[in-house]
Amino acid sequence: MLEGKKILIGISGSIAAYKMAALTRLFVKAGADVKVIMTDSAQQFITPLTLATLSKNPVYSSFIKGDSGEWVNHVELGLWADYFIIAPLSASTLSKMASGNSDNLLLATYLSARCRVVVAPAMDLDMFAHPSTQKNLELIQSYGNIVIKPNHGELASGLVGEGRMAEPEEIIEFVSNLTLETQELHGKTVLVTAGPTYEAIDPVRFIGNHSSGKMGFALARICALKGAKVILVSGPSNEQISHPNITFLSVQSAHEMHQTVVSHFAKADITIMSAAVADYTPAQVSAQKIKKQDSDLKIDLVRTKDILKELGQLKKENQLLIGFALETENEQENAHKKLLTKNLDFIVLNSLRNEKAGFGFPTNQIQIIDRDGKINNYELKLKEEVAIDIVNKIIEKLHA
Ligand code: CTP
Repeated sequence: MLEGKKILIGISGSIAAYKMAALTRLFVKAGADVKVIMTDSAQQFITPLTLATLSKNPVYSSFIKGDSGEWVNHVELGLWADYFIIAPLSASTLSKMASGNSDNLLLATYLSARCRVVVAPAMDLDMFAHPSTQKNLELIQSYGNIVIKPNHGELASGLVGEGRMAEPEEIIEFVSNLTLETQELHGKTVLVTAGPTYEAIDPVRFIGNHSSGKMGFALARICALKGAKVILVSGPSNEQISHPNITFLSVQSAHEMHQTVVSHFAKADITIMSAAVADYTPAQVSAQKIKKQDSDLKIDLVRTKDILKELGQLKKENQLLIGFALETENEQENAHKKLLTKNLDFIVLNSLRNEKAGFGFPTNQIQIIDRDGKINNYELKLKEEVAIDIVNKIIEKLHA
């Protein structure tokens, strides 16, 4: 995602500047071309030599280059970048960005840049909470800059609170996501289901499965980055998600998932059923915790509703419906049958042949089967990348 991208890093004076060595390294490792600008005070915290070595490019800090007296062209630097990451962003650089001050190379470049500018503030909690800082952050966001909020935690002063610069891993993930931003799904509403369902046996026990929710959350994230409004309905999962385009609805059981999904289906242009919904649920839920007996215990299970099948019956001409399948024999044939029975536009077949694919793994290997039986093969990839393949297929269908 970052391969070949031109990343300009602007470092201002804050102790968090030490983290920029790691961030620079991460960008270079991801295949990006990196250039660094430092303010004078940033150089009190980390040396230009460290960043020049890691970025494999000279570091810029003043309008005049070394002894040669040559001018450093801030306009060229600003136009060169695909993304300008100002991190750490100090209170002082923030206030200058807000007011249009250009008394150093970083600020002059910022004013000349036409690319997306992302800032990661770092300051002590009271400085961060100060009304002038908050006002300046609002102002620079109103100019179109993107703010990666600082974390809550221990600060250099020893105080604990909000103001710790986001970690390098968080910043690179944020910028990677930005590179995926398009408007290809603008105006569309996508309903995505994720995770397992928990079927209660009694107040403390349930029948569940190993689905982590990773695949569904990745699909929701990619759809949101491509401009869609997303309704994500998930069973219990440790995954986190936050995006202004995503409405998150948490459910527990197959019954709850059925009710929530069906109630939102009519407004969805696209529905992706990636949840691992239980096919059976206990016939009775004991109101009290079941006490153990000497004899064995039998639990009667009854069928849950097949949500996807019901959606296939409700589906209108202008709606796309996508399902998942996991098969152990006659994989493609069974998946295609499932597609036809459930009236899907395509089905994603999870492979069991690759031991690094599926439940609990960050990677997945899929095949996409079309209504006419055509099979599209994909390699083993990170679930985030698999989600991109699936969403690209959806976009292809929308234009078909
Ligand atoms: N699904 C659903 N409602 C259920 C069970 C599954 O909507 N009660 C959806 C899943 O989200 C998935 C697809 O149906 O998109 C999987 O189909 P399913 O027929 O359940 O396949 P398997 O779980 O593989 O079960 P089987 O092969 O036994 O039919």
